[in-house]
Amino acid sequence: MSKLQPNEKEAKYKKWIIILSIAIPLVVAVLFGVRIPNVEPLSFLPPIYATINGLTALLLITAVWAIKNNNRALHERLMTTAIVFSALFLVMYVAYHMTSDPTPFGGEGALKYVYYFVLISHIVLSVAVIPLVLITYVRALAESFPRHRKIAKVTFPIWLYVAVSGVVVYLMISPYYV
Ligand code: HEM
Repeated sequence: MSKLQPNEKEAKYKKWIIILSIAIPLVVAVLFGVRIPNVEPLSFLPPIYATINGLTALLLITAVWAIKNNNRALHERLMTTAIVFSALFLVMYVAYHMTSDPTPFGGEGALKYVYYFVLISHIVLSVAVIPLVLITYVRALAESFPRHRKIAKVTFPIWLYVAVSGVVVYLMISPYYV
């Protein structure tokens, strides 16, 4: 059997990238509308998932530092861990919102605009980053490293913004949790 070329390996995953990029935001949006009755709000979760977001930002920065120092194995491990952390964040975020009333932002004036700017950009970019992360990862697995590097330069700053803005949103809303 002939060995698959890098672009053939990438093509194998294309369908899954499309399915996951549509299904993940869709499932999250649907679950956000579901409230599980008669359960205590999982109010211990927000500080945990905010910390996970902060750790994801540190993992991303360390992973890029690793590849700049030619440590491919460390780069790969840190990026894989960042994906696992992002998935964990998403599960906890959904679990919290399925058990708790939404917390309105209590700040006034310019702060309110800042909060909604950070929140909305965080949400929009968190949806956009899903295909970017998956394509970046698949290109690395397929050993298409020049193509990996090209898209990674877009994926990395967006993913970092999503992780950091997640922490900022938490810090801004946390005084208003009941
Ligand atoms: C979604 C996860 C990943 C992201 C966001 C990512 C991000 C990056 C970034 C930003 C660079 C460019 C660094 C620079 O020169 O400025 C890079 C390069 C590189 N990455 Fe990744 N990476 C990911 C996963 C992986 C994995 C799993 C591997 C597996 C071995 C890998 C291997 C490499 C290699 C070999 C380079 C150097 C490419 C070159 O200079 O031609 N990456 N990555």
